[in-house]
Amino acid sequence: MTATNVLRPSAETQYAEELAALAANDDKQRPPQWKLSPQAVVRYILGGTLPDGTVISPKYVGERRLVEVAVGTLVTDRALLLVGVPGTAKSWLSEHLSAAISGDSTLIVQGTAGTSEEAVRYGWNYARLISEGPSEAALVPSPVMRAMQTGAVARVEELTRMPAEVQDSLITILSEKALPVPELNMQVQAIAGFTVIATANDRDRGVNQMSSALARRFNTVVLPPPATEDAEVEIVSQRAAQLGRALELPAEPPSLDEVRRVVRIFRELRGGTTSDGRTQLKKPSGSLSTAEAISVVTSGMALAAHFGDGSLGADELAAGLLGAVIKDRVSDTAAWQEYLEAVVKERKEWRDLYRACRELDPA
Ligand SMILES: Nc1ncnc2c1ncn2[C@@H]1O[C@H](COP(=O)(O)OP(=O)(O)O)[C@@H](O)[C@H]1O
Ligand SMILES: [Mg+2]
Repeated sequence: MTATNVLRPSAETQYAEELAALAANDDKQRPPQWKLSPQAVVRYILGGTLPDGTVISPKYVGERRLVEVAVGTLVTDRALLLVGVPGTAKSWLSEHLSAAISGDSTLIVQGTAGTSEEAVRYGWNYARLISEGPSEAALVPSPVMRAMQTGAVARVEELTRMPAEVQDSLITILSEKALPVPELNMQVQAIAGFTVIATANDRDRGVNQMSSALARRFNTVVLPPPATEDAEVEIVSQRAAQLGRALELPAEPPSLDEVRRVVRIFRELRGGTTSDGRTQLKKPSGSLSTAEAISVVTSGMALAAHFGDGSLGADELAAGLLGAVIKDRVSDTAAWQEYLEAVVKERKEWRDLYRACRELDPA
């Protein structure tokens, strides 16, 4: 498969050059099976310039210490749990950490209410099972089992959405570093380098609360939403420009002013007050995460590229904003109307946005 027409190449493919340059410049000690030293992994995540001049793009924008703690955990025999509200880059960080550490970010178990124990442990090729009986050849390893066999990082997404008993099948794996296969009277023992990075949402905590036995096997790192408007503007503009390039949108990168408007609207509605702290606002029901701000900007860029003059402006933002804010027809429409009239209308330099939103008025 060529990487050129894959819709979304994995991190290790997309950033293969950066990873190779980091490895070439890496003289620090690497833990068993690691492709890079812990220091180089942190540099891959946070970005920087190598001694030979190669520029490493920043992947995660946030506190260095958080990333160091996350990488430090993976060096020990403990697993890593990334928690936070939706859109705080938990999956994103997990993908890039596993790409940098193991060179493979694709050993994933997606947690849902329907995730079965087989998806975490192993399944069977039933045709073979019936014709040959249980044998190693009939065993279908899960991504976790494959990570154990190769000494790689296994990713478990949305851990707390899985039924509690399925979550608990990770306990033996994490504490014994072994996965018993009673049918074959054997067990798969993890080789050095095996670890797990799980993600879980704060918002739906309690969907299937983690047992304390399992929680003890993890070090938890909380990923906070961006602390300041400037930080969030940086994340959104950087990611939107990258996505625009990846989608080959014939649009200019978004102007910082437009990105700032989106971010300010999101932050004000999320927090329930205007940025000067003077006006209280109704909070919409959606999470209005950074990830959604990125998608408002990117879809605006697509509109501008194909149906506008190529540069993102109020008309393109209005449509995306409405879609992001109004998740519940009734209550969110009221919150949005109030915001439009009390805040957007009053800002002189936002007149164009007010007009564009009014034209799309859902009421
Ligand atoms: N602090 C951040 N640094 C870099 N990108 C971020 C940050 N916060 C959010 N993002 C972006 O938001 C998007 C969604 O993140 P994702 O990992 O899917 O969130 P979740 O926490 O819900 O798993 C990603 O494209 C990511 O680049
Ligand atoms: Mg996620």
